[in-house]
Amino acid sequence: MPRLPIIAGNWKMNTTPHQAVALVGEMLAELDEVRGVEKVLCPPFVSLGAIERLIQGTSIKLGAQNMYFEEKGAYTGEVSPPMLAELCQYVILGHSERRHHFGETDELINQKVKAALAFGLNPILCVGETLAENEAGRTVEVVTGQVRGCLAGIEWPQGLVIAYEPVWAIGTGRAASGPQANAIMGIIRDTVAQLYGQAFAEGLRIQYGGSVTSANIGEFIEQPHIDGALVGGASLQAAEFIDIVRQTATLKRG
Ligand code: 13P
Repeated sequence: MPRLPIIAGNWKMNTTPHQAVALVGEMLAELDEVRGVEKVLCPPFVSLGAIERLIQGTSIKLGAQNMYFEEKGAYTGEVSPPMLAELCQYVILGHSERRHHFGETDELINQKVKAALAFGLNPILCVGETLAENEAGRTVEVVTGQVRGCLAGIEWPQGLVIAYEPVWAIGTGRAASGPQANAIMGIIRDTVAQLYGQAFAEGLRIQYGGSVTSANIGEFIEQPHIDGALVGGASLQAAEFIDIVRQTATLKRG
């Protein structure tokens, strides 16, 4: 079974609710038409409700950018799995910006992945090495350690997507090369095969993230282990995001 490619737009902390609605308005019709690619928008929390209404009846899916692991209670400012499960199909967990600015550890992310799965949300689990780790030749050790740590004790992560985002490639305009990313993603797939068996690993979708644009998406999508992209900056420009999704559909079909 070929894997359905998945392109997700991580809007990060950009767009007010009104701007978010306007941006979806610019993309909606054209994105909806593209077949053969799963299309996921991940706007800020405060815009999820409005966007969920806008995309009802379309082929577009919705994701959140973070989540707490408790179901409810006295956790001021946090958002729980069942809150998101009413609106979203996906939740990005363990993004490097959460790890670095907010001190998220593999242990915490592991609890979040467990909670997402328990409430029927598909986690987009982010892993990736820093520049210093890369230059020290530690990429494989770091990335496989994150995969194992974040999946520890999880029996069967149905619906899991993994995003390989080298930290040095995020927002820098310095993307990894297709073959470079593919090699690490193959190692991620092997690690998942060790945990859950070959068949599960072959069905697992792995995205590349880090300075993806319409100019370089082709280089990634043609690689065998790359099943899509987690797009930051370029997902905030309607024409650019639509172009990335269209190229993915064409290349993966071909
Ligand atoms: P950029 O595409 O802006 O480099 O961001 C990548 C990213 O972090 C997506 O989650």
